Amino acid sequence: ISLRNHKPLVTVAARNADVRPRAAATYKAAVLGAGGGIGQPLSLLLKMSPLLSHLNLYDIANVKGVAADLSHCNTPSLVTPYTGAEELAESLKGVDLIIIPAGVPRKPGMTRDDLFNINAGIVKTLVEAAADYAPKAWINIISNPVNSTVPIAAEVLKKKGVFDPKKLFGVTTLDVVRANTFVAQQKTLRLIDVDVPVVGGHAGITILPLLSKTRPKTEFTQEEIEKLTVRIQNAGTEVVEAKAGAGSATLSMAYAAARFAESCLRAIDGDADVYECTYVKSDVMQELPFFASRVKLGKDGVEAFVHTDIRGLTEYEEKALQALIPELKGSIEKGINFVNKQP
Ligand code: NAD
Ligand code: LMR
Repeated sequence: ISLRNHKPLVTVAARNADVRPRAAATYKAAVLGAGGGIGQPLSLLLKMSPLLSHLNLYDIANVKGVAADLSHCNTPSLVTPYTGAEELAESLKGVDLIIIPAGVPRKPGMTRDDLFNINAGIVKTLVEAAADYAPKAWINIISNPVNSTVPIAAEVLKKKGVFDPKKLFGVTTLDVVRANTFVAQQKTLRLIDVDVPVVGGHAGITILPLLSKTRPKTEFTQEEIEKLTVRIQNAGTEVVEAKAGAGSATLSMAYAAARFAESCLRAIDGDADVYECTYVKSDVMQELPFFASRVKLGKDGVEAFVHTDIRGLTEYEEKALQALIPELKGSIEKGINFVNKQP
């Protein structure tokens, strides 16, 4: 499996900073929630992509200034703001990729599931519009609780008759980014070389880093495994507490989301060597219709599941995998029921 995805984005940015617009920039993306804590730095990183010709920024507030500001960067994409529900449809027409960070973030003491009541409705509305105006676009869901918002999106798309399970993704890249960083620090490895698959979901114990599958092959003591696993699972909370009421991870999330978006665009563009861990419709785990694991991305979305990651697990990982099933199953059902109980 190639580690190309693990090249830092700065490589792309540096490459792009001094080039003129070129024929390669042909794809269109929309960021829904572009004025927010994640939306703004994510839009900046997307503005650096050599693959984007158009970057549509949608939010219910605060997006005109963000777009005016970004539009002065001398990189290929044309940045256009769309504000308010009446401009949502226009923001989506003709786009290849939709990225959704719209919604409220956690405060200290909250779980991601505590965001369900507000964010479920926001995601439902935005995905309904995506189904109507960009039914073939790839959709990257960032809004929490991801374990439920992705099933919500799937149900909405199904109801609209346009669900393509290969093109709907929960963005769990931040878990991989964190796992790679913490392992490299702990083991004094070169960050660029480290690759830790993270499977399951995106909340607490449903986040399962498979440290035994770390590349390059790395030995851990049991104590190191337990400490690293808990730190990766609680890393979001670590940021929420440090921000002390001012929100959750935004900058590292923007970095992770931009990396995932770049992987999607490269796959759409025909790169045959794109792999990412992501939360998708899956039959990797019989009991769980949605599951995060490493997939190969191709021109039409998920092309294959990398089953080898979750084979031959250690006893600790196998137990943790069994333990996450009930919680993840409950979150998936909660999302599905939310859409189906509505008229
Ligand atoms: P934020 O409050 O800073 O920004 C959210 C933005 O969404 C705001 O600009 C707001 O105006 C906009 N918004 C709200 N309702 C909207 C609607 N109906 N249509 C369009 N835009 C709307 O929050 P943030 O820090 O950017 O976090 C956003 C979400 O991302 C949260 O739910 C957070 O939990 C989640 N998140 C996920 C991950 C992950 O790994 N998947 C990581 C970090 C944060
Ligand atoms: C994260 O992992 O940082 C996000 O899911 C935000 C959060 O609420 O922790």
